[in-house]
Amino acid sequence: MKNIVLFGGGFDPIHFGHINMAEQASKQLNADVVFIPAKISVWKNDSVSPEHKFNMIKLAISESKLKDRFSISTYEIDKSGDEVSYTIDTVRHYKETYPNDNIYLLIGQDQVDKFHLWKEALELSKLAKIVYFGRLDENLNQENIKTYGMTNIAGETNDFSSTKIRELQSLDTFDSVIDYIIENDLYFMKKIGSEMAQNRYEHSKRVAKLAYIIAKTNKIKEPKKALIAALLHDVAKYKDKSREVVEFASYKEEFSDLQPPLYHQIIGADKVQKEYKITDPEIVDAVKYHSTGKANMSDIAKIVYAADKIEPGRGFDSTDLINAMLCSITDGFVTVLKANVEYFKEKGIDYKNRLTQECLNFYLK
Ligand SMILES: [Fe+2]
Ligand SMILES: [Fe+2]
Repeated sequence: MKNIVLFGGGFDPIHFGHINMAEQASKQLNADVVFIPAKISVWKNDSVSPEHKFNMIKLAISESKLKDRFSISTYEIDKSGDEVSYTIDTVRHYKETYPNDNIYLLIGQDQVDKFHLWKEALELSKLAKIVYFGRLDENLNQENIKTYGMTNIAGETNDFSSTKIRELQSLDTFDSVIDYIIENDLYFMKKIGSEMAQNRYEHSKRVAKLAYIIAKTNKIKEPKKALIAALLHDVAKYKDKSREVVEFASYKEEFSDLQPPLYHQIIGADKVQKEYKITDPEIVDAVKYHSTGKANMSDIAKIVYAADKIEPGRGFDSTDLINAMLCSITDGFVTVLKANVEYFKEKGIDYKNRLTQECLNFYLK
């Protein structure tokens, strides 16, 4: 007789918290865990195809030490048409398929208080043993716990959130899942790509990948900040240049000596705060000064500045410069800065503005 935990959910997308729940349930119940992505979540509108969800769950599972005990069921996503899928149907299906095994249904602590609203809740609790993940908490609906015979899977709940991932607020999921989101233009990538030209969008992806590798290799504290800032750095580099001029108007006084091709860094930083609701000053500043640089830059800002200039699609062999950044952010940044000065000299471009000058004075003198 086996123990089987059914773990349904939106998984839109899967994050660290989901894997932690599954691992704890597997350990504490000595059970196999079946992830069951919902086709249409009863609680919220989903935003990616079932195939994408499935693929991301697969990637996340493969990162777990308990991966041999984990599997994914397509039972719900295989349902045809617009048919809404209810947990009771899924549990019945599993009970019929595995009549001699113990079936558990894993729910989040947040569902304990709402469980009586689930379709055929009582029947559900007879077919499967309901287990909820989280801390024992006397504020939870004790009536529901008693009525449905719920038991606890002990574990720390945290604020990992699919919503935050979808909105690029924080990326608390595995790198392989993040890569998948970026490569398949899901969630926040759709929004980022919507206003910029295709080549600019592809450039942003390459800058993000490089920035993240540099940040991780140098073991900086929050490498995902570099990734987020790099993804967004050219978010105001529009297809229509006249829009940049219009949006820059309110900054014209403060940055009066900035050349038009550099406007997008200032309006981009504004956009990051207003439209992406990102307030972290390191991320905002990394966007704000990615073209010009400035005096006294953070590691994140240096990484984004450099990755933008040396990403592999820039049309020159940047291997040495990339390696310099991988070895040391401090020294690598100075190397990239020098190379950039040379490049501008060759091209006959002379960006005389306060920010660029301050940056060169600060780092090269
Ligand atoms: Fe830029
Ligand atoms: Fe760029």
